[in-house]
Amino acid sequence: MSILRVDKAAPFDITLDTIAADKSISHRCALFALLSDKTSIVRNYLKAEDTLCTLNIIKALGAQVEEKEGVLYITPPSKIAEPPLILDCGNSGTAMRLLMGFLASQEGFFVLHGDKYLSSRPMKRVAQPLRLVGAKIDGRKDGELSPISIRGEKLKAFDYTSPISSAQVKSALILAALNAKSPSVFSEPELSRDHTERMLKGMGANLICEESKITIHPNTKALNPLDITVPADPSSAFFFAVAAAIVPNSRVVLKNVLLNKTRIEAYKILQKMGAHVNFVQKEDKYESTGDIEVRYAPLSAVCVSENISWLIDELPALCIAFACAEGTSSVSNAKELRVKESDRISTVVKNLKLCGIEASERDDGYEIKGGVFKKAAFESYGDHRVAMSFAIASLLDGGEINDTECINTSFPSFTPILNKISKAY
Ligand code: S3P
Repeated sequence: MSILRVDKAAPFDITLDTIAADKSISHRCALFALLSDKTSIVRNYLKAEDTLCTLNIIKALGAQVEEKEGVLYITPPSKIAEPPLILDCGNSGTAMRLLMGFLASQEGFFVLHGDKYLSSRPMKRVAQPLRLVGAKIDGRKDGELSPISIRGEKLKAFDYTSPISSAQVKSALILAALNAKSPSVFSEPELSRDHTERMLKGMGANLICEESKITIHPNTKALNPLDITVPADPSSAFFFAVAAAIVPNSRVVLKNVLLNKTRIEAYKILQKMGAHVNFVQKEDKYESTGDIEVRYAPLSAVCVSENISWLIDELPALCIAFACAEGTSSVSNAKELRVKESDRISTVVKNLKLCGIEASERDDGYEIKGGVFKKAAFESYGDHRVAMSFAIASLLDGGEINDTECINTSFPSFTPILNKISKAY
């Protein structure tokens, strides 16, 4: 198990143009390329463990993937192949859930599995609505846990209201609906990240989107191929945004980041807490992208209870900012944190206590009192975002994080970038 040690940082002023490419969009590029009959072109695909798993899976399903000068050319098969081996989703909930939706209506038998962390994450949120329209999906605990088996079937149309705002559930159901016999309707409590809708519409799919309600017309022909440059991931970039917001007299400029409103809410919370945050929009093809500047300023506490799905992945890093703020911050309505790569309510609170910060769990969030960080040895709990959040916390008084291989699931260049700010080894 590798240990990452981080020294206390001096003030820094840095421009970062090598933040990892967006994970959500990269997964979708690989998978959606299968919906066309022509070659998709993908620039800046994320080369991290999670998204490489998805690429391996589409190859096992018959796609040809060629790389020339860093650009991926993905040519779909004329018919999805039935793979003789199980499909390995690694640590990726996005890969497993989206594939469940896609494969449920493809002819053949498929088995999805993942690592020990993914194997304990809930899958019935996708299996159950798909079963209602005829999908043959099973798994341990009646389809709740992987390995997941799927025998593809022609599915019926649906009108489904999801009890949770989850882009993974939404995307799985949209993918299933594209292959149904008649139009389907999907609704969720609040709009979750909408990359699936944007990308599929860009490829020519007939989706009618009304904020949190989508009508999906089945594809009558193959979709147009993708021609896309994946922007930098705002969730990965956020670790360095927090670093600039908590190390006195520091500044960071994060280049070419995805600026979709469902992904930058955490930056807005940082702004509300007092940090200087500027967005400069540059492009808008499938998605809006641009630069984000973050400058240090003393932070004050904040209560977060809205738009939770827009900042769910950034909450572990945001907790580090809460712990540096004047006053007590709280998060509620965030029960989903309990079923991420780790139980992020429990793992974050445990680590904060280790460095002398007062923090307590709630059923659906936590309370964190700002204080002074003391050097500590943290656990990653196998969760990439927990590992990177506490590496950033360590910039304040030094620290070490145990079991950091997980960082490679989303951001393999994290440590070299961190090393530009302070010694990370
Ligand atoms: C993702 C959606 C979110 C997010 C995950 C990636 C996606 O999960 O937490 O990291 O790419 O669709 P949920 O859809 O389960 O909320």
